[in-house]
Amino acid sequence: MAVTRGEFQSRVGFILAAAGSAVGLGNIWGFPTQAASNGGAAFLITYLILAFVLAYPALMAELLIGRHTHRNMVQALESLPDARPLKLAGKLTGLAGLLTASLILSFYAIVAGWMLGFSASYPLGAAGLMEASEWLVAFTPSRNLFLMLGFMGLTMAVVLGGVENGIERWSRRLMPLLIATLIALAAYVLTLDGALIGLQAYLLPDLGKVLSGDLLLDALGSAFFSLSLGVGTMLIYGSYLSDQENVPRVGAQVALVDVGIAVLAGFLILPAMYVADARGVAIFSESGGLLSEDTLIFSVLPALFETMNTTGVWLATAFFLLMSIAALTSSISMLEVPVAYLIEQFELSRRRATLLAGVGIALFSALVVLNFDALFGLVITISTRYSQPILGIAVCVFAGWIWHRDALLRELNKNDTNAVNGLFWRIWPFYVKYFCPAIIGIIVIQSIL
Ligand code: PHE
Repeated sequence: MAVTRGEFQSRVGFILAAAGSAVGLGNIWGFPTQAASNGGAAFLITYLILAFVLAYPALMAELLIGRHTHRNMVQALESLPDARPLKLAGKLTGLAGLLTASLILSFYAIVAGWMLGFSASYPLGAAGLMEASEWLVAFTPSRNLFLMLGFMGLTMAVVLGGVENGIERWSRRLMPLLIATLIALAAYVLTLDGALIGLQAYLLPDLGKVLSGDLLLDALGSAFFSLSLGVGTMLIYGSYLSDQENVPRVGAQVALVDVGIAVLAGFLILPAMYVADARGVAIFSESGGLLSEDTLIFSVLPALFETMNTTGVWLATAFFLLMSIAALTSSISMLEVPVAYLIEQFELSRRRATLLAGVGIALFSALVVLNFDALFGLVITISTRYSQPILGIAVCVFAGWIWHRDALLRELNKNDTNAVNGLFWRIWPFYVKYFCPAIIGIIVIQSIL
């Protein structure tokens, strides 16, 4: 194959890019309220354990297969086995991953577009441009379409730059900005009245709630979505990783950053909700749980910002920019999955591949916008609830059952000649072979039931 492949230029660049993929809307709008409604610190600890015991091994499966083959998901899984039928299975699994990544992007771009809309709406409103400001936050097909296209345009612009000049460069710029904004916002909100009650809700452990089986499965499901597993994003990023890097170590660092930012987001979201409560904004649903997800982001927090006048405009703009950045560093990793395949399979230029994949996904996303009630929830359910965990099992099966053990050891030996005595080699192959597929299987069956 004549195509020269990109490669991350530094370890930090890789970690920021992969953590950028992992840290997304899921971390900030899902995790904190889930933790608060489900036992606070006890949930947090359970989540941390699950992330490292189950999601980390699955992450390693993708990173190692990617780094070993230096190929996109379709060609990587096709190249692992020797037997023909298995090769076909690998190819089909890869294509299903590619399709799922594209489906996830098609709804993600709509939600991320809303974030862009809110972040522009506040400064425009403050400047007196009321009509534009209101248009950007009103739920209309034309506004949804416009913002989705804007966000897809940004995503395509980054991916067009390639691995070093697009993905790595922008991750290196955006991720530190994201972390700094998150810390600054949390530090400010923590000084406001009511914040400490939020902190208590977040951190005081309620052991009774954590031990329910449902909750464990929920936490595991969100750990998988949060680490971008099953759809080839981590695999393709791993394939751009230099042979000099120690994959188990950088993989652990990526997982740490992802989990760390989810935990950090809790120090912003929960205190903010209770500050809102102290100011008379409703933060509980009728069933008594904390409002979460879209209601939290698009009504509770705006109502809070509303009570703060000019400070509110600054806070709101910073907050929605933070969400937009988190979304962008994730969406580029989703788009890279089909783009890398088109480049490597059909020898297209990156420009053509990006245009083809980007426009195709944007068209489908437009279809979702125009048939919102029928399609939006459906696409999310199919891609994240079913497809993602099932593909997660498939990747573990490829890593644990189909990949030859000695080839795996050779892969680990590339930068660690003592790998055979390491903890990773003693534990991971067993884990990824039996434990991960079994547990993910239980999640899938339970979510189907
Ligand atoms: N991890 C991202 C988030 O938390 C979502 C994602 C899923 C990204 C699958 C890439 C692939 O929002």
